[in-house]
Amino acid sequence: MIVEPIQGEGGIRVPPEGYLRGVRELTREKGVLMIADEVQTGLGRTGRLFGVDWEGVSPDLMTLAKALGGGVMPIGACVGRREVFEVFKNNPLFHSSTFGGNPLAAAAAWRPLRSPWRRTCRAGPWSSAGT
Ligand SMILES: Cc1ncc(COP(=O)(O)O)c(C=O)c1O
Repeated sequence: MIVEPIQGEGGIRVPPEGYLRGVRELTREKGVLMIADEVQTGLGRTGRLFGVDWEGVSPDLMTLAKALGGGVMPIGACVGRREVFEVFKNNPLFHSSTFGGNPLAAAAAWRPLRSPWRRTCRAGPWSSAGT
């Protein structure tokens, strides 16, 4: 199940409190991956490092873009828990991308991830898990 922590297309829609926790509980119960689309909400754009941090929710996968490139580099990323990515282990080329692994884009993304504002965002489970 893919959710935006705050819906950004078609209006700025902030979900009611408990919505993201509810999605997390439901997806766990049903054995479904929870994917947070943090393209618009990620990397400090809501005052927390990730939008899901407002509810202390830890999704299985997250998509990142926009702020990841620091405004200068077109880059997107799909990050997730180690166990989820394990399925690609035996065939890493299964999930391919024309420009995947571009070292210039990765270097540009590294800078905003290391910048001091990161420390000003209140940490949530994703921010502090280190995975
Ligand atoms: C919420 C959301 N998800 C995904 C995307 C796609 O991002 P990109 O075009 O950087 O891959 C966008 C683009 O605006 C977006 O707003």
